[in-house]
Amino acid sequence: MHIDLADLDFWRKPLKERHEAFARLRELEHPVFFPEKKVPLLRSGKGFYALVRHADVVEASRNAKIFSSEPAVTNPEPPGWIKQVFGESMVNMDDPRHARLRRIVTRSFSPKMLAGLQSDIEAACTRIVDDLVAEGPRDFVSQVAARLPIHVICDMLDIPQELRDKVHQHVDISTAYTGVRPSLARSVQMAGQNMLALLALQRMVIKLGHERAADPKGDLVSLLVTANVDGEKLTDKELGSFFSLLLVAGNETARNTMAHGLKILTDNPAQRELLMSDFDKHIGNAIEEMVRYVSPIMQFRRTVTEDYSLRGLELKKGDKVVLFYGSANRDETVFPNPDTFDITRETKPHVGFGGPGPHFCLGANLARQEIRTMYRELLTRLPGLRATGEPELLLSNFDNSVRSQPFTF
Ligand code: HEM
Repeated sequence: MHIDLADLDFWRKPLKERHEAFARLRELEHPVFFPEKKVPLLRSGKGFYALVRHADVVEASRNAKIFSSEPAVTNPEPPGWIKQVFGESMVNMDDPRHARLRRIVTRSFSPKMLAGLQSDIEAACTRIVDDLVAEGPRDFVSQVAARLPIHVICDMLDIPQELRDKVHQHVDISTAYTGVRPSLARSVQMAGQNMLALLALQRMVIKLGHERAADPKGDLVSLLVTANVDGEKLTDKELGSFFSLLLVAGNETARNTMAHGLKILTDNPAQRELLMSDFDKHIGNAIEEMVRYVSPIMQFRRTVTEDYSLRGLELKKGDKVVLFYGSANRDETVFPNPDTFDITRETKPHVGFGGPGPHFCLGANLARQEIRTMYRELLTRLPGLRATGEPELLLSNFDNSVRSQPFTF
């Protein structure tokens, strides 16, 4: 089997074939180098080493001094407009800049803040299922999975109701940037739309920031723009970039876990039965297993800051490595029978939320809370809920994204 992870044709293959290819790469002694291919609108770099084993992904995540998140974590090189919009985003930064931003925004994901959101998340899930029952089943993504995460982010930021339609409109356009377009013309058109949509959203949140700095409320924007005990707060640009990051990081990922999750539960009826035999007991680990099995973010990149030996591979300063989370999550030395969905397995070391280290997903607990609440509402009210066909996937090397999923209840 010819395997070229830098070739977009690889990412067109069905998921099963891709998993088989990664299993082959994991058998090799050293990480393989893939020279970069020319991709419309993305600058071609020199290529990357693919980290496909669990231990390698963990090592690179943990050792952020050697494996830098700067200048960016996407692969291939992001186009200039992405840097413009996400430039001040902490996901693309190393310490001390990263640590400062993370310190400021971590407050908004504290257990207390998340507990305060629960009744709102429950109300949103009830409304989504009410609407579903009234409308009848068409597409699980647009009717269910896509609705909750964006609603929760808007609530955290206390986006005024009259602006929410605009946010919803822009978000679908702006978060599609990781998808691969069929043609250069379409790429150019989409990139233009993406950038304008994201910049419009940033302007909106910066304006809110100014209003809330003068008249703070209990929401996330107020928290971020007013100084805390150490006198730390976000600048306008940092607030705009953080909002963009939340929309991209917190929206697609949770929605894709929920969408893939329905198909997985449909394909594994015994696991679903086990889950429903004691929902509270099993749901926590079932969500971890879903995130492991799906790996909603398929890859992030790091750039090597000094010569380093990784499992006998001599990396040079400036080399790029790409961390393939989906492959690490199916490493047979850590997860026996990795292609089996098993809600009782030991899932603790999965890297679906990133490896251990400074960039570990900030929103992991929020994502868990959203998925748990949504599934409780769905599976208890609609016991006949199931997927009725294959999902339509977005062509992307980054986002394991479901565009649509036929279903019934
Ligand atoms: C199932 C859902 C999710 C998955 C699979 C996921 C996955 C990830 C991964 C793999 C990273 C690591 C980036 C790296 O190491 O470079 C990350 C970081 C991050 N995630 Fe998530 N995420 C999810 C949900 C969320 C949600 C709901 C939010 C917020 C609303 C969020 C916000 C973030 C942020 C802000 C970062 C950057 C952290 C930093 O650089 O310090 N994520 N996520």
